[in-house]
Amino acid sequence: MTDTVKLNAADKDLDLKVLHGSVGPDVIDIRKLYAQTGMFTYDPGFTSTASCDSAITYIDGDEGVLLHRGYPIGQLAEQSSFMEVCHLLLNGELPTKDELDKFTYTISRHTMLHEQLATFYRGFRRDAHPMAIMCGVVGALSAFYQDSADITDPQQRMIASHRLIAKMPTIAAMAYKYSIGQPFMHPKNELSYTGNFLRMTFGVPAEEYVVDPVIEKAMDRIFILHADHEQNASTSTVRLAGSSGANPFACIAAGIACLWGPAHGGANEAALNMLREIGTVDRIPEYIARAKDKNDPFRLMGFGHRVYKNYDPRATVMQQTVREVFAAMKVSDPVFDVALKLEEMALSDPYFIEKKLFPNVDFYSGVILSAIGFPTTMFTALFALARTVGWVAQWNEMIADPEQKIGRPRQLYTGPTQRDYVALDARS
Ligand code: CMC
Repeated sequence: MTDTVKLNAADKDLDLKVLHGSVGPDVIDIRKLYAQTGMFTYDPGFTSTASCDSAITYIDGDEGVLLHRGYPIGQLAEQSSFMEVCHLLLNGELPTKDELDKFTYTISRHTMLHEQLATFYRGFRRDAHPMAIMCGVVGALSAFYQDSADITDPQQRMIASHRLIAKMPTIAAMAYKYSIGQPFMHPKNELSYTGNFLRMTFGVPAEEYVVDPVIEKAMDRIFILHADHEQNASTSTVRLAGSSGANPFACIAAGIACLWGPAHGGANEAALNMLREIGTVDRIPEYIARAKDKNDPFRLMGFGHRVYKNYDPRATVMQQTVREVFAAMKVSDPVFDVALKLEEMALSDPYFIEKKLFPNVDFYSGVILSAIGFPTTMFTALFALARTVGWVAQWNEMIADPEQKIGRPRQLYTGPTQRDYVALDARS
């Protein structure tokens, strides 16, 4: 194991420390580089930069491995529940039966929103994108739950975390209800976390809503698959926002804003829209050709990943879940056939093989969510709901770290050098 690497920079020979994680690539510690050489490193998009150390999630992108606190995502998706995974991410271990009951009870006690928050929805247009509403309403939580905003107090941090995990389904369901003009449904805490969300979304006060166990299980699994993904763009946004000591609810709103983009969480909506636009398998070659054309900005949505250069293990489970849900619901959707064929054709095309572009989590998720009854605009809101636990777990880990500093990247400046101000009438 190498413990140092040598660097000759600014005529100085430096021995830079190499840090070893429990698994995965070693990292070169460059924290003193600027002080010792007056030089920065340059890594736009952070393709070679570890921004922190973390014990929550591990990804081996070449092998297609995703572990939460050491447990493979396939096993968690198959055998655990979203509440167990939330406990695991937040507290570091799978819960015992008693711990799970206690955790589930605690979360269920925070599902209601302050009644005044409901008035925020009325300020939005009915056709507002649910993610626009999520950014606003989650940010607004910071004005309501000030008794859990002292981030130096671990207990208050945990209460804020529980509140966020618990209230997100209520907030997302209300965004949906608002868009279709139906009354908001209050949470019913005897239901599971996921069953409660389904009822608040699809139930109406006039009728008793019966949660379909097949859909409940599929939805719970979808939540598990989205729960955390180490230092992705939205998580890094939450960490950066939180590094200044900002309000926890505001930090999560920042994460939601970042997630919305089509290169990140917004890809699930874009992927289904793309599959519907393709429509039939005979049109796939045209879209593959467009994705390969450097003069066309079109990309295959739900394909490719910064870290995975192999099949995204979440996509494997997602594809299997589509089959299970379709079989149980006795439905089919031609869009799934288009997705399967598109995957097959892309994976045998030299362009995608050379660039190691595989389906990611967003490729198949929209097919199931649509079968369950969600409009495409809700897809990214569901991603935000599930990712909240990852965001709060990573935020807690950062704040608890005694060496935590404000995140403050530097730059390679390319603008004008110093020059003198020119009076308005003297400018040409
Ligand atoms: N279709 C066609 N070409 C692609 C695609 C794609 N989906 N993705 C990457 N490429 C090409 C890209 O043009 C580039 O080619 P070249 O080297 O010739 O310039 C090469 O592959 C590398 O792409 P990149 O953009 O430099 O890679 P990145 O790591 O910066 O981007 C990505 C990763 C996920 C943003 C990108 O693959 C992409 O835009 N995919 C489509 C959007 C998507 O599905 N996003 C969801 C990601 S997973 C869930 C999540 O993070 O929320």
